[in-house]
Amino acid sequence: MSHDKLPTDQPAVVTCGLPYANGSLHVGHLRTYVAGDLYSRALRRVGQQTAFVCGSDMHGTPVAVNAAREGVEPREFALEFHEQYRERFPQFNIEFDNYGHTDDETNTELTQEFVESWIDQDHIVEKEIQVAWDAEIEEPLPDRYVEGTCPYCGEKARGDECDEGCQRHLEPGEIENPTSVTTGNPAEYRTREHKFLRLSDFQEYLQGFLDRLEGTENARNQPREWIEGTLEDLCITRDMDWGIDYPGDDREDLVLYVWVDAPIEYVASTKQYAERAADYDWEQVWKVDGEEAHGTSWDDEWTDDSGEIVHIIGRDIIQHHCVFWPAMLRGAGYNEPRSVLATGFVGIDGKALSTSRNRAVWAEEYLDEGFHPDLFRYYIATGSGLENDVDFSWDRFAERVNGELVGNIGNFCYRALLFAQRNYDGTPDADVSDEVHERIEDAVDRFETAVAEYDVRDLGQIAVDLADFGNEYIQRHEPWNLVDDDPEQAAQVIRDCVQLTKACALLMQPVMPEKAAALWAQLDEDGAVDEPELDAALATPPADFGEPAELFTKVESETIEVLNEKLRERVAEASADDEEESDEESDDAVELDALEDGRIGFEQFQDIDMRVGEITAAEPIEDADELVRLEVDIGLETRQVVAGLKQLHDVDELPGTRVILLANMEKAELFGYESNGMVLAAGDEADLLTTHEDAALGTRVR
Ligand code: MSP
Ligand code: ZN
Repeated sequence: MSHDKLPTDQPAVVTCGLPYANGSLHVGHLRTYVAGDLYSRALRRVGQQTAFVCGSDMHGTPVAVNAAREGVEPREFALEFHEQYRERFPQFNIEFDNYGHTDDETNTELTQEFVESWIDQDHIVEKEIQVAWDAEIEEPLPDRYVEGTCPYCGEKARGDECDEGCQRHLEPGEIENPTSVTTGNPAEYRTREHKFLRLSDFQEYLQGFLDRLEGTENARNQPREWIEGTLEDLCITRDMDWGIDYPGDDREDLVLYVWVDAPIEYVASTKQYAERAADYDWEQVWKVDGEEAHGTSWDDEWTDDSGEIVHIIGRDIIQHHCVFWPAMLRGAGYNEPRSVLATGFVGIDGKALSTSRNRAVWAEEYLDEGFHPDLFRYYIATGSGLENDVDFSWDRFAERVNGELVGNIGNFCYRALLFAQRNYDGTPDADVSDEVHERIEDAVDRFETAVAEYDVRDLGQIAVDLADFGNEYIQRHEPWNLVDDDPEQAAQVIRDCVQLTKACALLMQPVMPEKAAALWAQLDEDGAVDEPELDAALATPPADFGEPAELFTKVESETIEVLNEKLRERVAEASADDEEESDEESDDAVELDALEDGRIGFEQFQDIDMRVGEITAAEPIEDADELVRLEVDIGLETRQVVAGLKQLHDVDELPGTRVILLANMEKAELFGYESNGMVLAAGDEADLLTTHEDAALGTRVR
């Protein structure tokens, strides 16, 4: 089956991966929400009825672990972040039609209905499994309460996800070398009975689903590999208090796994929206009617009048959305997603963002700098293809804002409107040239194609490219030289430029809604910029408008320097944390050399001339990765020594350090410097040997 091209006559829903209500939002999270907001605005722009919904993910161990760390009840803890997000999203012009949360009544009821439906349809089995257990505190260790090694790729993993490696979901009991996050003890295993959704019932269905699925390629390709072979059952319950109760009356002690109720919030949030929007039929979007509703196969006929479901997520949660979620929907008589768009990850310095390590650029921080939200939206949506991982960089941000927004689209629109206003009080009375007419038509076509192909990056880029043409056009025709010599031609060129500006406003609206509205107002157009259909790009702009203002302001390099410095410090601290952690991990894992078999006599020892010294000067040797040139005072004289300490020590801190020098070491030449002696140190970190009382410089070590 193939879907009808978007836009269709059916209602659509666009959803974004729900943020865990467990910490502040950073620029990585925002990539999902900006893409979702942009795409839903673009869908509306081409005439599709669209609801854009989301909500906070309140349950599960991601919230419980962090709440416990703060000594707060999970509900209270999560609600606080929920409120924070509700305020934060609109500050980035991310405007959901409904923003709920997974712990509200609508979602709780709907989730229990889903599970009851699976029970009725015989998709649920109870099985005995081994779950990780902390024997010291006598507690089970679900999901993020346990860490260990991924059995698939060998990377460090959390209890239910291989977050740093292959991104696979891990079932309870799968993680290797489990350790309790609470006590740091190695975890034990205990036998427990849990409920499972029998995914193998949906194996064939899922293969067909992936063939039908639209969106980014990664969302189809990775799951294909994961569903080869027999699909393992999905454990849908946990030994925890925090969560939605398992609805079957045989196991009231269990709550549902967070990944059960979280995606159901997509449906619940749509339902809440429909309660306010009378013309929006949420059941048409989500539900399958009639006899075919239950079953494990798929009938192409139903999709004729069902809605269009579009999920936008980060690439880390593809398996949940493209394997578990469609099975959950199908098992409960619900419609399947039409498309999944999975974005690449945003990192810093090639490393993943980390909330707990403060290796991040925070949403709040961006706003505190006074930057306009639309600049970030443009930067993050168009910096790279949606599927690619990207590094956040202030330099690149400034470069693109100054070049593409200030220098290109901002400059063009300002020049065009100013010239028009000064010379004609607004739009000159002339026809749009064929060339410009065609250009605008092409841009509109490109927009429509990008919607149909889910090309978020292109959707963000079209207006800027059109302005680029505009600048070239204005330069080519030099209207300022025409005003006197050929007024007719001048009026026509300016008419073209005003038309291009109007088209830019309409086309940039999904990515930069506030800037588009400002430009619309400068043109003195009626109504809001998001109201007219796209072909309004060719409708005549108002004959009169006032003096324009610059749309964008330059990002100053001094501002960027300060931000870079701040980020550098933060990254360095985070890396130091990483190292500390790996030290802790590897402390008892250091491989010690075996003791020497051969013995030496005292005389031989006497041959070794070791002296107490003090470093009096230290400087890095250029071009050498590790080497430092030292001057070491050993009482009798001062020696120049070359030592491999650059990466392991702060070179500026070395002078004043007392060391032990092997004084009768053979001389050597390194990078053009003579090394006359050797400073003694131990271990990979070059821990420098020293004395602990006031032995005079030059004293022999015996
Ligand atoms: N709560 C789950 C999703 C449940 S959906 C039914 C979750 N939450 S999250 O807070 O970790 O992430 C929220 C969204 O941000 C997800 O779409 C996730 O993929 C995305 N990202 C989180 N960190 C990201 C980056 N560093 N880069 C890009 N996207 C990132 O997952
Ligand atoms: Zn893995």
